[in-house]
Amino acid sequence: MQIVKTIDEVRKTVKAWKKEGLTVGLVPTMGYLHEGHKSLIERAVKENDRVVVSDFVNPTQFGPNEDFESYPRDINADAKLCESAGASIIFNPEADEMYDNALTFVDMNKITKVLCGKTRPIHFSGVCTVVSKLFNIVQPDRAYFGQKDAQQLCVIKKMVKDLNFDIEIVGCPIIRENDGLAKSSRNTYLNADERKAALCLSRSLEIGKKMIADGETDVKTIILAIKAEIGKEPLAKIDYVEMVDFNQLETLEKVQKPLLCAMAVYIGKTRLIDNFIME
Ligand code: PAF
Repeated sequence: MQIVKTIDEVRKTVKAWKKEGLTVGLVPTMGYLHEGHKSLIERAVKENDRVVVSDFVNPTQFGPNEDFESYPRDINADAKLCESAGASIIFNPEADEMYDNALTFVDMNKITKVLCGKTRPIHFSGVCTVVSKLFNIVQPDRAYFGQKDAQQLCVIKKMVKDLNFDIEIVGCPIIRENDGLAKSSRNTYLNADERKAALCLSRSLEIGKKMIADGETDVKTIILAIKAEIGKEPLAKIDYVEMVDFNQLETLEKVQKPLLCAMAVYIGKTRLIDNFIME
């Protein structure tokens, strides 16, 4: 399995595959791959003849005070994981190769301004821009995204529809540690106490899920219970906990499907996200 650094080389490789009539899956990532990414790659390998994994810490989706510089990177470990999962190539460009003094950005209204978009105002413009560029470079038949970033998945689906990309977007389930913590490259920032404290995200979501299963329909009541559970954890500071419909991301008053219950919580300095979806 090759690590490819240039856009030209990816294009040539994919063109040759397409000439042979092969289908292509794309798994966009920022690297530091874990079991969650592996599950996306394995699914892509099952559903396509060839799989490209992009491995690029995208500067345009980080705000000025965010963790772009310190974001973990390990291309050699990533290459091993991709190989074992059956990927065909890793596309690992430098920022200049991707942006080269670019002046064009992709922006979206409404659904990028809520949930994570409130705290991270430029984030989704950076995501939409880099994902559009990857779609244009790789021209995949299918692209795979994790449901842990549920808002991102919603935004990408909308962008694909709005900009008429001929690509199927496949959302894949959250992969968790045995104790419930959603897998994330940012989990490596947590010290031992924070790692324990971080369980308040999945634990509180389970409380919300159970309330719905037991027949509670009032969203405010459920969110209060979720926040109360997180509030018991001294190292946790809530950014948001919200329940929205999983298409328009509009706030719900009563439980109604498809539903997304999403949260962002700071554990110490690390901002973690988690959610559950009911379709
Ligand atoms: O989910 C991510 O890792 C990133 O937001 C993505 C989709 C690879 C774009 O940089």
